[in-house]
Amino acid sequence: MSKKDEIIQERIPRHIAIIMDGNGRWAKKQGLARMFGHKQGVTTVHNITEAAAELGIEYLTLYAFSTENWNRPKEEVDALMALLVDTIAKETPTLMKNNVRLLTIGDVNRLPQITREKFLGCIHETSANTGLNLVLALSYSSRWEIIEAAKRIAAEVKAGTLGIDDINEASISNHLTTGGIPDPDLLIRTSGEMRISNFLLWQIAYSELYFTPRLWPEFTTEDLYEAIVDYQHRERRFGKTSEQLKS
Ligand code: FPP
Repeated sequence: MSKKDEIIQERIPRHIAIIMDGNGRWAKKQGLARMFGHKQGVTTVHNITEAAAELGIEYLTLYAFSTENWNRPKEEVDALMALLVDTIAKETPTLMKNNVRLLTIGDVNRLPQITREKFLGCIHETSANTGLNLVLALSYSSRWEIIEAAKRIAAEVKAGTLGIDDINEASISNHLTTGGIPDPDLLIRTSGEMRISNFLLWQIAYSELYFTPRLWPEFTTEDLYEAIVDYQHRERRFGKTSEQLKS
């Protein structure tokens, strides 16, 4: 029996965010170079995106490349950028077939020109799709995003287009690169690490967190269903009491 059969369709999380971790360790376990782990990780991205689209999830945000990842050895960074270009070329037809719209968050201006152009092309091509929104975090970190938002808010206050009293949760959310995207309901991290690693710090204030020891290249659709079932058994109180929620 598949865990999928236990999913309550009416309580599907609207937004799932994933910290895809463990590519390097997976490759090492097989005695392979780290890039093999990233390549296998792309297959997992393909499978999980298709499963999320089929389940009717509205947003799937994947932490594909962090601001801190720029500090990795140049060969790995270059190979990852090339892999992203290759993946976009190969996967765009699948995104179209599954009615998936691609979005990116992060400092995409830091990406090499060819990588940026491929993403912009795919974003344009999929922009009219109405199913799953696949949000790739590229050159992303939460602290970077919060600094950028603070600068923009300060500039608007200085210009007189935003009043100090208009700074609130909604206006801060709207100034983040995720502006317009609902906060994640469920955040999954693979590979057994119990950290958030500078990912969506503002947005996950009330997200349910799910950690699995499974390495990203071996994370299956069955693991995704299990995470969703686990999420559906939790009581989300948003600071209220259990009794308040029931009444
Ligand atoms: C973390 O594993 C993974 C990354 C830094 C990159 C994730 C990239 C992919 C899955 C491939 C491209 C993605 C898309 C969306 C097409 P790690 O290298 O930190 O693993 P380790 O902790 O075991 O070393």
